[in-house]
Amino acid sequence: MTDTVLDVAARATAGFRAQYGTEPAGVWAAPGRINLIGEHTDYNDGFVLPMAIDRAAWIALRPRDDSKVAIHSLDFGEDREFDLDHLASTGNEWINYVQGVAWVLQKKTRGLKGWDGVTAGDVPIGAGLSSSAAFELASARAFASISGMPWDPREMALAAQRAENDWIGVRCGIMDQMISAAGEEGHALLIDCRSLETRSVPMPPGSAVVILDTATRRGLVDSAYNDRRLHCEEAADFFGVEALRDVDVERFERLAPRMENVMRRRARHVITENARTLQAADALERGDAETVGRLMNESHASLRDDFEVSRKELDEIVELAQGHGACRGARMTGAGFGGCAVALVDGEGADDFARTVAEAYQSATGLEPRVYVCSASAGASIESTTPVPA
Ligand code: GLA
Repeated sequence: MTDTVLDVAARATAGFRAQYGTEPAGVWAAPGRINLIGEHTDYNDGFVLPMAIDRAAWIALRPRDDSKVAIHSLDFGEDREFDLDHLASTGNEWINYVQGVAWVLQKKTRGLKGWDGVTAGDVPIGAGLSSSAAFELASARAFASISGMPWDPREMALAAQRAENDWIGVRCGIMDQMISAAGEEGHALLIDCRSLETRSVPMPPGSAVVILDTATRRGLVDSAYNDRRLHCEEAADFFGVEALRDVDVERFERLAPRMENVMRRRARHVITENARTLQAADALERGDAETVGRLMNESHASLRDDFEVSRKELDEIVELAQGHGACRGARMTGAGFGGCAVALVDGEGADDFARTVAEAYQSATGLEPRVYVCSASAGASIESTTPVPA
């Protein structure tokens, strides 16, 4: 784990001591993510290849004997409290993610325990790096371990996705929660979003993953995301299949001339992206960073032209990245419409890459990007300081 990550854990622990005058029973964490390739494929039962990053949401806590949960957020400077026996949605507030997770876990277990906690994180909020999935999984991990629930990453990812879908009201797929729950250090994770089977693939030695935050935010894009989902469902109906995952490139090409223009382009993105994602996982396994990079470049073009979820700042930073000698490949990452791009870069050239692209982007757009060289981390974890009482 990197120093920055441990700094945040230490901040949460120090915050807990300041708030409660005692040591926490433990510190629970879950990471944010980038997606190397496989975008807008998860809700089509397809394939994704994300990587958990060394930035996470942390919760330092001690269990309580009653059904109350009291949390101080160091990042928001706010105290919030709720009762597990009287859950009520609080809209977009950060505490609502903890409530949503509690609501789902309560259906799985009796005797979910309350706690006093302090939370802190370093996943930038709203940047498309899944800060909310990180917070959901850190909460799930904390509830599970103090309430004696077994930790099954797949089950917990599904629980967190359900919280997001049915409690928060965001219709996301399973990718963000799965990688935050099940990521593996030094590896990306190929996820089959239908069976939820996973395969860990090692990140190529000598390469670095660089996050390029355009400093633009997604804004109100729920409707655009839901629109894309709808078009994909219509396209699946056109092919007479359950989901676009069931259509291969050859069948698509045969029937494409009969499809309406927008539906055809949306479907083409998903179907070719699934193929690219499987190829990229195989290439990673061979240590073939060049092929992964080429597939990432193709993915960006497809998201920009066919799926239409990029924006000019993302295109700009991706183009600048792709033009640097150390870059193997670059693309937007996450839902799109703003936020971050990700680049796979020659390790030795990573610092020069980060500096050069940031400067060129700033002079082209007037926006100040944030650039993070990151490493592949493990999924939701516990850093216990003292044993948690049974
Ligand atoms: C968001 C959603 C994911 C996925 C991506 C696009 O991050 O939460 O489930 O659909 O967009 O790939």
